[in-house]
Amino acid sequence: MSAEIFSKVHGVLAALQAEKIENAVDLEAFRIKYVGSKNEIKALFGEIKNVDNDRKKEFGQLLNDVKQEAEEKYESYSVTLEKNVNSRVVSDMDLSAPCQPVSTGSRHPVSVVMNRIINIFERIGFTVAEEREIEDDWHNFTAMNTPEDHPARDMQDTFYLKDSTSELLRTHTSSVQARIMTSQKPPIRIIAPGRVYRNETISSRSHCQFHQVEGLYIDKGVSFADMKQTLLYFAREMYGPQTNIRLRPSFFPFTEPSAEMDVFWGLNNDDDYRITKGTGWLEILGCGMVDPNVLINCGIDPEEYSGFAFGMGIERQAMLQFKITDIRQLFENDTRFLKQFSGVI
Ligand code: DAH
Repeated sequence: MSAEIFSKVHGVLAALQAEKIENAVDLEAFRIKYVGSKNEIKALFGEIKNVDNDRKKEFGQLLNDVKQEAEEKYESYSVTLEKNVNSRVVSDMDLSAPCQPVSTGSRHPVSVVMNRIINIFERIGFTVAEEREIEDDWHNFTAMNTPEDHPARDMQDTFYLKDSTSELLRTHTSSVQARIMTSQKPPIRIIAPGRVYRNETISSRSHCQFHQVEGLYIDKGVSFADMKQTLLYFAREMYGPQTNIRLRPSFFPFTEPSAEMDVFWGLNNDDDYRITKGTGWLEILGCGMVDPNVLINCGIDPEEYSGFAFGMGIERQAMLQFKITDIRQLFENDTRFLKQFSGVI
């Protein structure tokens, strides 16, 4: 009885040794037959119960050898076949040919500047709030204390949606202030980056769409000094540690008092003269203490809370930083222009 089973095992061994493996299909067939989960050798292990007791050990040993032989053959052919495949690829290749340039994408200069601004404010605890670009009249104007007869409300300046005088494309990110103040309780500390629209004639200096970053900080006891310090910190992070700022009195319906902030750009060459109109100073944002009317409109008690807000344009800052002379280039998506910013983060 034992002899018969032993010869069966020897038969399998001879067969697997004789098996020709020339390609991946042969290899897979070999694997299924001798290495896979239901292989022939495994089945033979079941026969051990029919082997005479004094030969059981010898039988086990033999089967293990056969199993190992199958696995080794499979392994070695896997490696050889793979090598052959690779060497074929290599031999087909002209290693001296110049490589195809890989064209990588790059960040848009507007995104670069926007991300820098976001980063700076995130470091001092502002979080990013994003809101809709199609706004209603209330959030864009009324809540922001902008009177009915304000020129910004004119069709000439604002894109109203078809058949509607209450739906419009937001003219500034200040509308996000109203959205946030009516949905969150103070303390509020947000920045709102995004696209805005104005019905302007397109020229090298202005466009009908552009980007702004809005800032809003509301809490108990927030003062003008807090605003000044925050904006000074921003200016120095953005334009260098030696940067000086100045605040000029101004007017916005939603802040009282209001100011415009300039950074000192320098007055060293003709370009500086042209860009700063001979003053050395460059206006970069509007700001002020949130008008009590705005707080009331949004359900916040101005006796308990105060806050500051600011809003700045991105394109102008991108144009200054990258010496871009025509705003239209920022929206044409000409890859020859955009490629120049590859690697800029
Ligand atoms: N919304 C103003 C604009 O588009 C910019 C601005 C000025 C925003 C003063 C503010 C602010 O939050 O306090 O021209």
